[in-house]
Amino acid sequence: AFELPKLPCALDALAPVIDKQTLEFHYGKHHQAYVTNLNKLVVGTQFEGAALEEIIKGADGGIFNNAAQIYNHTFYFESFKPNGGGQPTGPLADAIADAFGSFDAFKEEFSKAAATLFGSGWAWLVKNKDGKLEIRQEPNAGCPIKYGCTPILTCDVWEHAYYLDYQNRRPDYIKSFWDILNWDVISPRY
Ligand code: FE2
Repeated sequence: AFELPKLPCALDALAPVIDKQTLEFHYGKHHQAYVTNLNKLVVGTQFEGAALEEIIKGADGGIFNNAAQIYNHTFYFESFKPNGGGQPTGPLADAIADAFGSFDAFKEEFSKAAATLFGSGWAWLVKNKDGKLEIRQEPNAGCPIKYGCTPILTCDVWEHAYYLDYQNRRPDYIKSFWDILNWDVISPRY
């Protein structure tokens, strides 16, 4: 059975960017619910006993949605640390400069994608099949490994990610999001 992965830090460690109460719901309730749901849904299907990535690539409907949401949330939470921020290092830093001109230009473009995504979903930085960096807007449970891309960075823009801290001010959440990124975890994904 799938289990809820551990957070990389304490529930109150990311405040004030993401408060303890938000994590209690977002991690403790929402992320947990996707795990509970998937464990129930796969019983008696071809996906019983399959790895998470296999399910994401092969399933659709509720099984895909819950599997992808487990993957996406784990990927999102693992990207954080208290007093994070700064910039990527190594090959990812060079690739961002090549693809977007500069880190600041990338940051602006990614933030815009996250802010303008209509409804619930995820902004992603991915390495596509040609090895090029790309920013993508994915609605709902959209997950880049479904179509063969390598995920590098994601921002959850479902309202449950920010509403307790920022209410309707999604752009303020996105602005603060950069201050808790752990580039030591994110950079090697490239
Ligand atoms: Fe979420």
